[in-house]
Amino acid sequence: MIVELRMPSPDLEGMTAPSRIDARLKVTGGARYTGDLQASDTDGRLLHAAVVRSTVSSGSLVAIDVNTALEVPGVRGVLTWCNAPRLKPVTTLMSTELDRLLPLQNPEIHYKGQAIALVVADTPLQANYAASLVTAEYNHDSSERELSFGERIPTAAEAKKVGAGEGGKVKRGRPEADFARSPTQVDRTYSTAVTHHNALEPGCALAMWDPDGRLTVHTATQFSYGDAVALAKAFGLGVREGRLRLGAHIAGGFEIGRKMRVIAPFVGGGFGSKGENQYPLLAAMAAKVAGAPVKVVLTREQTYTLMPYRSAAVQRIRLGSDRSGCLRAILHDSTIQNSKVGAFVESTGDMTPHLYKCGSVRTTHRLVRLNVNAPSWMRAPGVAPGLFALESAMDELAEQAGIDPIEIRLRNYAEVDPATGHQWSSKSLRECYTAAAERIGWSGRESKPGTRRHGERLVGFGMATSAHRNMQFPASARIILSQDGTAVVQSAFSEIGQGAVTALTQIAAESLGLCRSNVKVEWGDARLPFAPLTAGSATTLSVGTAIQSAAEKLKRQLAVLAVVDKRSPLYGTKSGLLGARDGQLYSRREPEHAEPYTAILSRRGMPALTARAVTGRLFGRSRYARCAFGAQFAKVTVHGQTGEVRVEHLVGAMSAGRIINRKLAESQVRGAMIWGLGQALMEESLPDERVGGWANGNLAEALVPSNLDVPLIEPILIEEDDSRASSLGVKGIGEIGITGVAAAIANAVYNATGQRQYELPIKPGALLRRPLAS
Ligand code: MOS
Repeated sequence: MIVELRMPSPDLEGMTAPSRIDARLKVTGGARYTGDLQASDTDGRLLHAAVVRSTVSSGSLVAIDVNTALEVPGVRGVLTWCNAPRLKPVTTLMSTELDRLLPLQNPEIHYKGQAIALVVADTPLQANYAASLVTAEYNHDSSERELSFGERIPTAAEAKKVGAGEGGKVKRGRPEADFARSPTQVDRTYSTAVTHHNALEPGCALAMWDPDGRLTVHTATQFSYGDAVALAKAFGLGVREGRLRLGAHIAGGFEIGRKMRVIAPFVGGGFGSKGENQYPLLAAMAAKVAGAPVKVVLTREQTYTLMPYRSAAVQRIRLGSDRSGCLRAILHDSTIQNSKVGAFVESTGDMTPHLYKCGSVRTTHRLVRLNVNAPSWMRAPGVAPGLFALESAMDELAEQAGIDPIEIRLRNYAEVDPATGHQWSSKSLRECYTAAAERIGWSGRESKPGTRRHGERLVGFGMATSAHRNMQFPASARIILSQDGTAVVQSAFSEIGQGAVTALTQIAAESLGLCRSNVKVEWGDARLPFAPLTAGSATTLSVGTAIQSAAEKLKRQLAVLAVVDKRSPLYGTKSGLLGARDGQLYSRREPEHAEPYTAILSRRGMPALTARAVTGRLFGRSRYARCAFGAQFAKVTVHGQTGEVRVEHLVGAMSAGRIINRKLAESQVRGAMIWGLGQALMEESLPDERVGGWANGNLAEALVPSNLDVPLIEPILIEEDDSRASSLGVKGIGEIGITGVAAAIANAVYNATGQRQYELPIKPGALLRRPLAS
């Protein structure tokens, strides 16, 4: 080990940040995930269903033989396209596969691993065993299926829309001409692999129908409203609006109808993969036909085709600069692997127009549709692969210009958003570079690659910029303050393990002037006031703002009750002069004049006071450009004979506005950095180009970082004031930590070995094409 093992510097604020409110429940098994639910959680009955998947990747079903399966003891029935309930078309809010493919509706096959049958039985074992006995005959012409991304790249079609609906093409200035005239040029192509989420909890759902036609679904989702809307549409439960109408309703604080309930209190990770999937529909269809509650739990292998993943991408980057490294042109042309039934397109060019000062920029996205299941969102969608390419190319440009990789980024520092000219709401990227460089020991880096050794290993340092948009979605919250001085805060947001419940409880307590133990947050149920999907690193800001706004309303109502009442110590005080703390209102002018909330309510004989707020209707639109920035630094060693890359030390300095809970924020950044390490060195779902599907589609054969692969990882949080963008002043922290890591590692591998890396994951074989050690 080259780096001494040392603990991250103790941080008093971090040590005192509240621990997760749900931690105890989780480590003791008290937190009940969807898969934990039993018959005692339903009307006393519970059936189990297992999915049967297609073994071919195109064509159509000719026959399905379910007879052997039906003979298995305990089997209640098998659903296929022939007997499954017909579903109405669905337009999802997350652009998932359901937009183009609803399960068990017709005999068409779009990919290997598609659901073709669902076996319902008394126990999971019976269902799974019987599912293994279902056989199918296909009408399948193997010359018609399309499985090779590489072969189709030359004929890829332009993607008009990418990501959350942004244009696939962005252009400013005259990028081609300015590139051609640049004295310093980099022109490189980068390829990144398909990667799957592999959340701890697989997709699962438990559905039950009341005799009066009400549907209740417990499901693993990061978007309870999205699943509720998808289910309600599919089963015709009174939600008919298209995406726009629905968006307007949601912005207005619409609450979903009485015929539909989605419950998801604990979700074991999501990262973009959990929401508007097939499994809640499958469970609901089976429950409808069986006339009893049904639970579906996907196997780990099934999650590879019945849940989404991150697309493979090939990105050509051209950077042109003057001799001092000042950018004149950036061209970022991506080709993205997709599915015949995919709706979401990875927006690899997302950050490129915003990252550096440069007058001439072009990003384009093209699309290859294959017979594989649909990709979707995955932590820092677009940006994680996009910054690998852009930040690797920047490293190469710095080398050509003969300057330090940090220096080239400072020379091109975007003081305003180069795409719009708008000021940043806040930007502390310089501080991030400085702090991370110091922590990793950047001054000890050799600028000439391949020159520093330690025993048999070559040593290298690399760095890259991190960035992620700061987003705010519409959200609503209701607060009920009781006469006993406790408050219940309700919002349908999802806790997917990131700590939202804890951070939002802190915000509620602070906004209400109550101690945390007197605040109870209720979440994870679509019957609660609308909350957006837990995604886009936007939950703390979006839902926190709604909570803060509801708390302000509540305090104003309390103030009115107090100041007009002669019996109140606050009688006659202007309500604008009132503050709130320790469960009481007080006069800011004369702090000794105060009255507890309990007294205000009990004197009026009011058992409780309720306030509700809807915020973010404009999706956080602002006259400021809003982004979180950071810097990733890596120290790696590469074995001279085997090409084994070992990351020895990672430092990520992130500036993300006000930090509500340092412990949780650091944990988010650390987890994301580990994923970045996996993206750089390990993670790759291998498409089987002979028959379709994923050749290593299970955790036994998919590499992900485990404890021994994870080095000293140090997140550094740079505090900044973002209060001119939002009253809470917070930015998202969930995704930025993965961005830039892969480029920092690839750049460090180059610094160690003198061999540039254009392909993720970086494998020893790629490093051994030329001799490493002299
Ligand atoms: Mo995340 S990919 O925004 O769930």
